[in-house]
Amino acid sequence: MGNSLYEDIGGLSTLEKVHRIFYDKIYDHSWLKKFFESFDQQVIEDKQTSFMGEKFGGPAYTGKPLKQVHENMYISQELADIRHKLLRDSLIEAELPEELADRWLRIDDAFMQQVVKKSIASFYRDYRFKYKQRIIHPEPR
Ligand code: HEM
Repeated sequence: MGNSLYEDIGGLSTLEKVHRIFYDKIYDHSWLKKFFESFDQQVIEDKQTSFMGEKFGGPAYTGKPLKQVHENMYISQELADIRHKLLRDSLIEAELPEELADRWLRIDDAFMQQVVKKSIASFYRDYRFKYKQRIIHPEPR
């Protein structure tokens, strides 16, 4: 058996390094940043590190279920594509070997499917809880 991806990338410190670069870009992006305005960047980075770390074969994730956390956010495929590109740029900037960066992106993409909404109509139909308001941010112009 080979090493886990967690070991291959160099463990916790590489996850932290990539996620710092990645969330610096997200918090700087005119559209994506709108979703994160009320959340502390360090806290978000640490949760993302815990989540991906577990999927890569590292220690268990300590956060909330992914689908539940994002259920009230209108995340379109267009927004998902922007996030994907920022992550790819971050992996290149952190100088991860291409093969490891590709594995990282494939795993991230698989979970993206849990948070993307097919259309605004399906979002209105499927999300009807009153305890959390729908969060919709149109593309700023
Ligand atoms: C464009 C797509 C996405 C947007 C706009 C987004 C936005 C957010 C926001 C605003 C939060 C904070 C919510 C809260 O704490 O109540 C959050 C939490 C989180 N997100 Fe995302 N997210 C996206 C995609 C993803 C993907 C693809 C993953 C995993 C691969 C992910 C992993 C997480 C994790 C682990 C947390 C922390 C959960 C916790 O609080 O325990 N997100 N996201």
